[in-house]
Amino acid sequence: MMTDRRAFHDKIMTIERYILDQQSEHPEATGILTNLLYDIALAAKFIASHTNRAGLADILGSTGEMNVQGEVVQKLDEYAERTIYRLNDHTGRVAVMASEEEDDIIPIPPHHTAGKYALVYDPLDGSSNIDVNVSVGTIFAIHRRKSEGGAGTLEDCLQPGRDLVAAGYVVYGSSTMLVYSTGNGVHGFTLDPRVGEFFLSHPNLRFPAKAKYYSVNQAYARRWSPGVQAYTDWLQGGQESGLSLSLRYIGSLVADFHRNLLTGGVFYYPAEARAPGKGSGKLRLLYEAAPLAFLAQQAGGYASDGTQPILEMTPTSLHQRVPLYIGSRDLVEKAEAFIAQYDAQLL
Ligand code: AHG
Ligand code: MN
Ligand code: MN
Repeated sequence: MMTDRRAFHDKIMTIERYILDQQSEHPEATGILTNLLYDIALAAKFIASHTNRAGLADILGSTGEMNVQGEVVQKLDEYAERTIYRLNDHTGRVAVMASEEEDDIIPIPPHHTAGKYALVYDPLDGSSNIDVNVSVGTIFAIHRRKSEGGAGTLEDCLQPGRDLVAAGYVVYGSSTMLVYSTGNGVHGFTLDPRVGEFFLSHPNLRFPAKAKYYSVNQAYARRWSPGVQAYTDWLQGGQESGLSLSLRYIGSLVADFHRNLLTGGVFYYPAEARAPGKGSGKLRLLYEAAPLAFLAQQAGGYASDGTQPILEMTPTSLHQRVPLYIGSRDLVEKAEAFIAQYDAQLL
């Protein structure tokens, strides 16, 4: 039976083609952001090619292969850090970078051109899961620089999530997926390692109306505020919530977020019994909470620090930590309600 070639052709949408198509809808676009997104997809391919050998790096000390900067491949998180940096330090698209792995901003080498964008990233999220063969991820966020020309600055990085130009993540799991948004919905691409291409597999991702999971590290329950305790009880069906959720907690934020995006649910990492929203908690605003909050919003969800929208928060430092409640909008708003009701004296 002759397949409909047009239909078949419609299905082969690589990330490069998709990004280019999206750019064509913006006549004013210069193509720089498009190429920066390509660069990130390329970095993801390099990192993905090493995730399935991470354990060997430990056993063998190294895989003995050379990586992009001619160094022997180190452990995966160092490799991820170096790969993202080296693929972006000379392109002229980025003015400054910031990474979870570097204390300060990462300047563009003086002999290269500083570009239009600030790139902040968590090169390897869920590092504790690398050696036990559990999904890990990469998170990235792209801001337009604010400084005029020359080397990018710390202020170019310390911008609120509401001003993000683009954000996304890569999840290295049973398959490798790159999920991103430039403000026109959330789109997921799956890597076919045989050809080294990301193919559009999940266009226009939206949180389902009915949630299936809640995700939290219950080991810390005794430290939680009364509001978080009451919220968790509600999620577990208490207080006549009528909910019948399951608990899933992977320990890699990207993997937990990604699953909840597909199935509906809420992930939260509360302030540990300290005043919610007062910069406590474990997760970092700049390169974990804000980019995922941008995606959550684009997918019909929401992200809060328990008292305010993550997207409205302007970072005061590169590694500022915030409590994080993120996922299905109704469940996140309920967290805010419980905290407002029970924890007012803590705020
Ligand atoms: P990273 O590996 O980049 O430091 O991130 C780890 C984070 C996040 O991925 C995950 O949700 C959280 O740490 C898990 O923390 P706990 O082990 O304290 O639950
Ligand atoms: Mn992380
Ligand atoms: Mn990390």
